[in-house]
This record gives sequence, C-alpha cells and structure tokens, in this order.
Amino acid sequence: MLALLQLLNLPEASTAAKNFTGLYDFIFYISLIGFVGVVLALLYFVIFYHRKKIDPETTPYIHGHAVLESSVAVGLFVIVMIIFYWGWMDYKKIIQSPSNSLEINVTAKQWLWGFEYLNGRKFTNELTVPKGKPVKLIMTSSDVLHSFFVPAFRLKQDVVPGTYTTLWFNATETGTYEVFCAEYCGTAHSGMLAKIKVVEPGEYDHWQKIWEWEKQLGVSSTTSAVAEKSVTSAEGQKGEEKKENNISPVERGQKLFTEKGCTACHTVNGSPLVGPSLKAVFGHEVELEGGKKVLADENYIRESIVEPQSKIAKGFQPVMPTFKGTLSDDEINALVAYVKSLGN
Ligand code: CUA
Repeated sequence: MLALLQLLNLPEASTAAKNFTGLYDFIFYISLIGFVGVVLALLYFVIFYHRKKIDPETTPYIHGHAVLESSVAVGLFVIVMIIFYWGWMDYKKIIQSPSNSLEINVTAKQWLWGFEYLNGRKFTNELTVPKGKPVKLIMTSSDVLHSFFVPAFRLKQDVVPGTYTTLWFNATETGTYEVFCAEYCGTAHSGMLAKIKVVEPGEYDHWQKIWEWEKQLGVSSTTSAVAEKSVTSAEGQKGEEKKENNISPVERGQKLFTEKGCTACHTVNGSPLVGPSLKAVFGHEVELEGGKKVLADENYIRESIVEPQSKIAKGFQPVMPTFKGTLSDDEINALVAYVKSLGN
C-alpha cells in the first residue's frame, strides 16, 4: 500500500486489514485525482479568464450543458455506489465470523481488558492468538462503554455493558500488536491498553496444551515461557491469573446452573419442566409466544437470564424471575458458555 497509513508504518496484520487497504487506496486515489482536477481547473480559470482579458462591457451569457452536467452526476453516482458496494462486501466479511472460530470472552472494565479462553485460562491486558486461524471475541463491559480497537488489524468494535458485541479477525503476521480503548471511559481511558501476541499455530497449541496438562496434574508453578514473562512483566495490571481460579467457563456455568436453582425449571436432557429444556437450544431458532422466531445466540441467552420476560418461548408461562443484578458478568458469561455447550 502506498497511501498514508504506510507512512505511519502501521502493519497490516489481519485479513480485514488487507481487504480495507484496497478500498482505502481506492478512496484515497479517487480523492487525489478529484483534488488535482479541481486545482488545475481553478488555475486554468484564474489564468485564462483573468478580468483584464475579457471585454469589461459585455458579460458573457453562459448556457448550461445538459449532457456534461448529467454525466458528471452519473459519474459521481457510480463512484459512490462502487465505494458503497465495496464497503458493504468488506463489512459483511468482518461481521460474519466463521463457524470454526476460536472463541475468547472479553470483559472490559475501567480500565483494563480481561480475556478468558474456553479452557478457563485468564489474562489481563494481553491476549495470545494463533496466526492464520479465525478468532472470535465475545465482548461485554462491566461498567461503561468501551471500544476495542486494534489499528494493525483495522478493526474496532464498541464494548457495551449489558449485552454482547463480537469482533472476529484472522491474524496474518506473527508479532505483537497494540489494543486501544477507543471510547472515552473516564480518567485512565488513555491507559486502557492491551497487547495481542500472534504466534504460529503450533506454538499456540503447545502453549495451551502445556497449561492444560499442568492444570490436570495440579502443578501450580508456571513453566510456560510466555506466561512466565507475562506474570513478571513490569506493567502493573498485566498477565495471567493464578491457575486455581481457572476452571473453564463451561464448568463454572454448570456449577452455577445448579447453585442458582436453574435446575428447578430447566433440564439439560431435552424434556421440558416449568421452563424449556436447554438442550440443543443454542444456535437454533426458538419459536416465541405470538409466532415470532429468534436465533438463540449469546445475546438471546443473556437476555433470557437478566430479562426473562422480554421473550417468552412458545408454550411456556412468563414466570421466570430476573437475575439482573444478582449475577456478575463473569457468571453470566459462564452460564452462556454452559448453555452453548449444550447446543447443537
Ligand atoms: Cu475504556 Cu476508554
């Protein structure tokens, strides 16, 4: 890429970044051509229609030129539609995550980023991902609006309290990339930084496997070099949490499912009680009272927990109490992960 971003020496480290570069360059060069054209026309008129060169007595009467005017309008319309279509196609690519994505929960709070892998491994302000594999971030905030921004990936997504937003990427270059918070969120907003470390897939699998083995064996010391570095890293709130806390979200959700009394009304084996069974709900369409259908995604499950009255599954009574305020975001994430694990 030749345009401005390259002058800033910003790496292009994801498939999305490479897609956007094409569109960015197109807009940049079209604008450049337009700018040069306008300046040249301006100079032409200044030089050849100089006041002294025309007869001061006669003011020329200038007719419009219908063909010229409409072709300018049509030409500009075509360019705008090309930009729209191109942008829309690229947007579709970043909005639909591949189904084989590696899913990672992200919780933003003033003023740090918490990451949790499906195996329960947790990090603050640092995320390690494999190169060349789709990664889907399922994000929420425990306080105010934040925004997850990775300039090297050309991706940015608002992180909103009380709901999930997602962002997926496929990193194409190994290396370490900056994450910024791009939504003003209070005093330390500018310090709300994280790093994404992209490693070779083999290295990533090895790194997770070692950790999982150690967890199974109950080894508390951290032998993995990556984790070692993060624990001892100088920047205060950064690095990996203690392994004892790292039971996987699904396991935590399963525990909560019993502890919070969900089992009184919901089974996981397919037979309905007071409430619908949660077996094979996630990822499927649910028919509601009134005939509407909704896709049971992360946000549907979340809403069913905190605002159970807002959507009632067909054939059931609106009797579920709200769990708003009684469950932390972490607990809601865990319950969603558990319901997800019962899916399909
Ligand atoms: Cu978080 Cu700004």
